[in-house]
Amino acid sequence: MDLARDLRLGGRLALIHGGGWALALAGDPVLRLLYPPWSGQQHQIHRRLREAAQPYASRSGVVVVATAAACQEVVRDRRYGVRTRAGGTPGGAVDGVRDPLLEPVDLSILGLDPPEHTRLRRLVAPVFTPARIAEREELALRLAARLVDDAARKGRFDLVADVAVPLPVAIIADILGVPDADADAFAHWGRAVGAGLGGVRSLRALHRLERAVVELRALMADLLARRRGAGQAGADGDVLDRLAAEDVADDEAVSLAVLLLLAGFETTSGLIGNAVTAMLEAGEPWQQLVDDPLAGAADVVEETLRYDPPVQFTARVPHVEVELGTRTLAPDTTVLAMLGAAGRDPAVHTDPDAFDPTRATAGEHLAFSGGIHYCLGAPLARLEARVALSALAARMPRLRRLPGATRRRSLLLSEFARLPLDAGGRGS
Ligand code: HEM
Repeated sequence: MDLARDLRLGGRLALIHGGGWALALAGDPVLRLLYPPWSGQQHQIHRRLREAAQPYASRSGVVVVATAAACQEVVRDRRYGVRTRAGGTPGGAVDGVRDPLLEPVDLSILGLDPPEHTRLRRLVAPVFTPARIAEREELALRLAARLVDDAARKGRFDLVADVAVPLPVAIIADILGVPDADADAFAHWGRAVGAGLGGVRSLRALHRLERAVVELRALMADLLARRRGAGQAGADGDVLDRLAAEDVADDEAVSLAVLLLLAGFETTSGLIGNAVTAMLEAGEPWQQLVDDPLAGAADVVEETLRYDPPVQFTARVPHVEVELGTRTLAPDTTVLAMLGAAGRDPAVHTDPDAFDPTRATAGEHLAFSGGIHYCLGAPLARLEARVALSALAARMPRLRRLPGATRRRSLLLSEFARLPLDAGGRGS
């Protein structure tokens, strides 16, 4: 352990969070999203941000957009990017050097502007097209049936650990070409990284995250080296094959593989948990899915992405001076697009706080963002969630919630850490 580094980072963390909490206490809605007791009032805060003139300027220095129209504009407009002109991260430019508190993980294409973004995304995009993903449906159906049957046999189970994590882990591991994927180890890495992505809260969290990243990178580097060494690489194979075959630097290939792995299950597991919770809370949507588990699942997935999306916001910086709503933004201003708030914009959705998979506008959400960073895994996430929800509704019609559910404490991710359920005995 590097004590001097810890002291320095610990001091900065205390300053950042002390200052942030003081601004939250003074009423800043953006910082209130971060700190209890206000952080639990996320939907009221989102409403306030949507009703304000766009963009809302937080006293922390970032500006925020929360209406669907303004969020669309920010994520689609090519004058915005994800790097400051000095090559730093939104929130604090650091010339070429990663700041462990602002950017604890190398996010590969998520953190790159063109032309690097274009070059790397093109390498893997062919593996994630709707047609290629549809080829995994049989595997998804088989896995979901097995996991849900095992959970039903237990009677009482944790949806997160027993279904929502192992299903996407097994599939993304298969797509990447990671043999013998250990769902528990991945879940541990995912939790450690996921907790830090929305902003590192403590030195302990930072250490956990850094350890997880070292381990994940070592795993991917080892697998890539073996592919390259074996000379079996090919453009038609799994993702690691493709990366090994291309003329791409080791570091870049490892970062991209790690991003795909983490993005490939962290968020989809959240989507499955959020969907089940929203359906059981609303009651009728669950009954509708039980009555027709195959036909209704896709609509439930879209409505969950609108109502409670796993990824709550994304950040951009304008590369030039831009007009945004009522303001002129200087280059490098950090803009947060609140994707979760956009899903409940009454200008788009009637009665937006109601969970109703039959609504005509369910698919009009920004849960997968937009523009050049539009989620590469959207077809995969939709397939996995649909298959998991159908399997649950078909096999556990009397499913109900048990006490003890816990949500992840994260500004970025809206997900359950634990979701205890009672399978309710086998269906008719
Ligand atoms: C419900 C599940 C998911 C949600 C809500 C989600 C959400 C998102 C969002 C919001 C972004 C864009 C962020 C931005 O604009 O800055 C994104 C990008 C991305 N997602 Fe997903 N994602 C999900 C599942 C997946 C899966 C299954 C994969 C599998 C590979 C994946 C891979 C990626 C990648 C690689 C990017 C970066 C794309 C780029 O920068 O060009 N995601 N995702």
